[in-house]
Amino acid sequence: MTTVAELLQPVESDLEDLLGDLRRLIGAGHPILQAAAEHLFSAGGKRLRPGIVLLLSRALDPQGGLGPRHRRLAQITEMIHTASLVHDDVVDEAGTRRGVPTVHSRFNSRVAVLAGDFLFAQASWHLANLDDLEVVKLLSRVIMDLAEGEIRQGLYRYDTGQSLDTYLEKSYWKTASLMANSSRAAGVLSGIDATQLQALHDFGRLLGLAFQVVDDILDFIGDDDQLGKPAASDLASGTLTAPVIYAMASQPALAGLIEREFRDAGDLEQALELVHQSDGIARSRALAEGFAREAGECLAFLPPSPSRQALLRLPDFVLSRLY
Ligand code: IPE
Ligand code: IPE
Ligand code: MG
Ligand code: MG
Ligand code: MG
Repeated sequence: MTTVAELLQPVESDLEDLLGDLRRLIGAGHPILQAAAEHLFSAGGKRLRPGIVLLLSRALDPQGGLGPRHRRLAQITEMIHTASLVHDDVVDEAGTRRGVPTVHSRFNSRVAVLAGDFLFAQASWHLANLDDLEVVKLLSRVIMDLAEGEIRQGLYRYDTGQSLDTYLEKSYWKTASLMANSSRAAGVLSGIDATQLQALHDFGRLLGLAFQVVDDILDFIGDDDQLGKPAASDLASGTLTAPVIYAMASQPALAGLIEREFRDAGDLEQALELVHQSDGIARSRALAEGFAREAGECLAFLPPSPSRQALLRLPDFVLSRLY
């Protein structure tokens, strides 16, 4: 299986610089919040989102170069992502992230909420300092979408009436918006035309949807060690993802268990069993494959380069996390 490091090889040294730059940028803040943010940045993570921004930036430059504004955009993208994870882990009451204790379990919830805010605020400040109103609009929209997605997910807990479309709309806000808008912003900074900007937006949107569907499947078939975060937690907390939405269609007993919020002993185990017996996971896999295929097609316009090659392998990488 391709590792993320192999895939991001054309921007390997850019990503090393990114880590140092993030440390320096965050370092200017309050010591406790700095410790909390540093805690997560040190643990690493796939750095897929800044990787995409950096690869696109190099792929769009005729000399394959990378300017300071594109670098800054990649940093902002990872800050927003990390902030959203710190808050997500509080909401999901998750104990581990990136293989280490989450900020709220290592410190406490107050620190985690403030650390997330601190990272969002830092990201906004550096975003404004890029001095490009279009880019400011794209990335501030992402922060709105992230909040909308998490709020919507909270409102739909244990709601068996939700459709696949509702789930996909929420997944766009939660996950795909950041990939779509940061990809587009890389194009804005490169001065490409409107059709190409739309293609980059579509690429990020489709890749992001594939990514979230895969993440939601992994919650059913992965384990804590492999994921570096708790598995088997979405259904338990009432979050109904693609495998469950599909499974409800062929397993009528499932909805009843969910609606009574797994009140009786054995309810949750039975519900998990029903999902595994159904075609929910296979259909979700097919859904992710469709998004991934379409994502790749959006990049046809990029001129040949090692960065383009890497970008074209990304959709398969996202799917390969399932195998
Ligand atoms: C986790 O994203 C959040 C989701 C959108 C599912 P990643 O799996 O990319 O997290 P890191 O950055 O590698 O830790
Ligand atoms: C994605 O949702 C979280 C964000 C994009 C903020 P999840 O709740 O599924 O993410 P994980 O599984 O904890 O990484
Ligand atoms: Mg979570
Ligand atoms: Mg969550
Ligand atoms: Mg998840």
